[in-house]
Amino acid sequence: MVIIEKQIEHVTFGFTQEEIEKEAQRLYSKIGHLGWTLNDCLDIAPLTLRINKLKKKRGVHILAHSYQTPDIIFGVADNVGDSLGLSKKATEVKENTILFCGVEFMAETAKILNPEKTVLVPKRGIGCTLADSITREDVRKLKEKYPGAPVVCYVNTTAEVKAEADVCCTSANARKIVEKLDSDTIIFVPDYNMGVNLAKITGKRIITYNGHCRTHDRITKEKLKLLKKNKETLVFSHFECKPEIIELSDLVGGTGDMHRFSKSSKTSKEVLFVTEQGFIDRMKVEYPHLKFLDSNMICPMMKQSNLINILDCLENPKRENIIEIEEEIRKRAFNAVNNMLKY
Ligand code: 13P
Repeated sequence: MVIIEKQIEHVTFGFTQEEIEKEAQRLYSKIGHLGWTLNDCLDIAPLTLRINKLKKKRGVHILAHSYQTPDIIFGVADNVGDSLGLSKKATEVKENTILFCGVEFMAETAKILNPEKTVLVPKRGIGCTLADSITREDVRKLKEKYPGAPVVCYVNTTAEVKAEADVCCTSANARKIVEKLDSDTIIFVPDYNMGVNLAKITGKRIITYNGHCRTHDRITKEKLKLLKKNKETLVFSHFECKPEIIELSDLVGGTGDMHRFSKSSKTSKEVLFVTEQGFIDRMKVEYPHLKFLDSNMICPMMKQSNLINILDCLENPKRENIIEIEEEIRKRAFNAVNNMLKY
């Protein structure tokens, strides 16, 4: 009997049945739209209650990218957004600690901007095929080959690579930054598709690099046709998609642009966001009056954070959960990221 009670107490973290049911109802009112049952919500309610209690007690602010799972987005995140929005938010957080649910370069960006804060990740080594495709030596070689050309570096890069750049960008401001730079030749790293897309849109000479987002790069014309279902569907593609996909799209941008679209649109057409499914799930919950089609595009790295490793990191943060950047590199990377925030 004592053992069973202890087990139940462990699962409930000491919350009462009433507290758990109330929390489950809160979760269900959001993620029920996505097919989560009330029982699913009852299962995770003790975890979200515990995380929300601990984060307040420990002064931790949770930032989550829109590609995270709905239990994180609607259960425990303090702010949800795109790369640009979260970078800006990181500079406004009052708490001394940020727990970043996303991929590692995003947490690094938060640290670059907030050296005095502790930045935690629920799990170490959550990479990104773009960030992992390029080193600082690769950027140096390009600079040697094209002297004088400014380097625009996509935010999906490590701090070391950002330190080599003049300005950073995200998919939400890449076009603006490339257009504003006082140079007709620009080195753009590492996303090849985005570089080609930018060259087409801006008419500038873009020196590209051979990096790809494995999630967005996989979409082909044939797949798009299947996802689109009918001719009238409005297609809004992420800037990381291949140029042939962009050509077939009505709109192009980052998830921040897609979010602004959902916020203001009253369209009765079906909307297909050609991006990671997590973002589409978020939109379905927040804008139930719009008809979103699924992309079923999954970034396996973005799905590595979960309520268990978030709780573990809050309860017992280990060295590996803490993002550290060498100060000399951080300062140089700061210039590029800070330049980006001016746009
Ligand atoms: P956003 O800038 O749209 O948030 O893109 C994030 C990302 O990493 C896409 O692969």
